[in-house]
Amino acid sequence: MTVNVNTLRPLAGSGRKLYIETYGCQMNVGDTEIVVSLMQREGYVYTERMEDADVILINTCSIRDNAEQRIWGRLAELKGLRRRRPGLVVGILGCMAERLREKLLDGATGVDVVAGPDAYRDLPRLVREAEAGGKGVNVLLSTEETYAEIAPVRLDRNGVSAFVAIMRGCNNYCSYCVVPYTRGRERSRDASTIVAEAQSLFDNGYREVTLLGQNVNSYRTGDVDFPELLRRVASVSPLLRVRFATSHPKDMSDRLLETMASMPNICRSIHLPAQSGATTMLERMNRKYTREWYLGRIAAIRRYMPDCSITTDLIAGFSGETEEEHRETLSLMREVGYDFAYMFKYSERPGTYAQRHLPDDVPDDVKSRRLQEIIALQNELGLASYRRDVGREFEVLVEGESKRDANQLSGRTSQNKVVVFDRGEHRVGDYVRVRITGCTAATLFGEALE
Ligand code: 5AD
Ligand code: SF4
Repeated sequence: MTVNVNTLRPLAGSGRKLYIETYGCQMNVGDTEIVVSLMQREGYVYTERMEDADVILINTCSIRDNAEQRIWGRLAELKGLRRRRPGLVVGILGCMAERLREKLLDGATGVDVVAGPDAYRDLPRLVREAEAGGKGVNVLLSTEETYAEIAPVRLDRNGVSAFVAIMRGCNNYCSYCVVPYTRGRERSRDASTIVAEAQSLFDNGYREVTLLGQNVNSYRTGDVDFPELLRRVASVSPLLRVRFATSHPKDMSDRLLETMASMPNICRSIHLPAQSGATTMLERMNRKYTREWYLGRIAAIRRYMPDCSITTDLIAGFSGETEEEHRETLSLMREVGYDFAYMFKYSERPGTYAQRHLPDDVPDDVKSRRLQEIIALQNELGLASYRRDVGREFEVLVEGESKRDANQLSGRTSQNKVVVFDRGEHRVGDYVRVRITGCTAATLFGEALE
């Protein structure tokens, strides 16, 4: 018989209920799953109902000012709940923790715990301190922490696709970006723990993993680089789909493309943030590539995998952006023909190189107009991309029921496009061959072929 060491001492949590709200990127979603795992070990029980919780944690994002504003709003709302529930512990996790610890601990906001992205192992102690009436604070960043052996508790519940963090932090220092300051230095997680996690997900019925990092192309541990890691994870089973995000164009190697092309279960979908289409702007952004380099990488992707979808991130109105530079972004979009894009208005972030040296000098109405032009063009390009799929056949991995109609299922193509089709005898987790019969700008409709 094995003895659970936790039973040898009283558990601090002992049935107390934990609620976590997550903001921001997929990395944060993954971190929340690690936090739940660490807190469950201490006897806390996860709840989906905030009203029932003894401990409320908010996993925060600092990437743009509006993300932070939403969280301040949320904290103001929680103050009422705290008045009604003495003893309730409220904690802040993630990117805002480091940046705003002082302000967060100020009596007015009423936060009891502040834990940065590398301090989650310490969280049970921090919460205990708060429960004893103190404040629990740890925002130390680490050069080593990867939570390598922690088995995340999957909260998504579709039971088909899961995120797996393979690295943390970022060393790129794009001049607008706060991430290197909030999440610290880049470090890669041990490859064998990543492959073991993918294997265990597969054994538990999962059929898709998305490998996550700020810049997965620079993954390295020992002699395992990213193409090799991808090959190992994809070798778990031909029935396990593998995706990854995010790639930095400067590190997008032919070897990676070769590896992808050689294994059909590595998905035909690449997220390659361009940020801007103008070389002069890319220089100010410290992106370390030119427009021509970026287009060269797109050509390489098309060469290796003509059916690969390409998506991107774009920023409108960064420091000094001229009308000509903005037009170059629009022309880059047309040249690539993105399937999808995340599009943002530049938001100056405290502590970044840009905030210190590059004025936020594009007037807000100009930023908004440029962003609107980018969005309008992407709507056109996205619709064209979905229309091209009508009449084609795809293998769809079923993720769940369609939100609109319980007689229909919803899944994704390898290119990461959502497909809705009649249920028939098919079930969640199945691979189904589907012919596309129609589309909107964000969904394909089809009929199962078997
Ligand atoms: N303002 C606007 N967008 C930003 N991003 C990162 N920092 C900022 C900022 N200060 C965008 C980039 C990045 C994505 C995750 O967020 O496009 O790729
Ligand atoms: Fe930020 Fe650039 Fe790192 Fe992405 S690669 S997280 S944009 S610094």
